[in-house]
Amino acid sequence: MALLNILHFPDPRLRTIAEAVTIFDEDLKTLVSDMFETMYEAPGIGLAATQVDVHKRLLVMDVSEEKNNPKVLINPEILEKEGEEEMDEGCLSVPGYYETVRRAEKIRVRAQDAHGDFFEISADGLEAVCIQHEMDHLEGKLFVDYISNLKRDRIRKKLEKLKKQEQRA
Ligand code: NI
Repeated sequence: MALLNILHFPDPRLRTIAEAVTIFDEDLKTLVSDMFETMYEAPGIGLAATQVDVHKRLLVMDVSEEKNNPKVLINPEILEKEGEEEMDEGCLSVPGYYETVRRAEKIRVRAQDAHGDFFEISADGLEAVCIQHEMDHLEGKLFVDYISNLKRDRIRKKLEKLKKQEQRA
């Protein structure tokens, strides 16, 4: 297992559109376990491959309090959406910032597991938000894209400044 480096906004690599996973081999299983380790260590409730600079359609998550319910969604597809809700979201790629985002309240998703087998899940609340947030990453989209340009620009400038300070240190 290994901790992976998480890209931070406004890194242009976060804008890459991920490609479908077609090979379900040992390398994929290693990537999945490294992504879980990285997510739990951060700590976060979800992580998309895009965030660790791997541009494949794959995300991991665990929204449980006890951190004992890991889920991996490969090539996820939203089949149905219902309702709307607003929730404050954060992102490991936008550290320290939380903004309210409106998303579907309930979703039904089809995805593949690490063996390539298809399954479907219904999700609501935090889990539904998490899946939609992580699936956005696979399209090169970030939660800050939902807020005003002014706010996004302010966050971008602060994170760029932080990065420069880290590089000097
Ligand atoms: Ni995120």
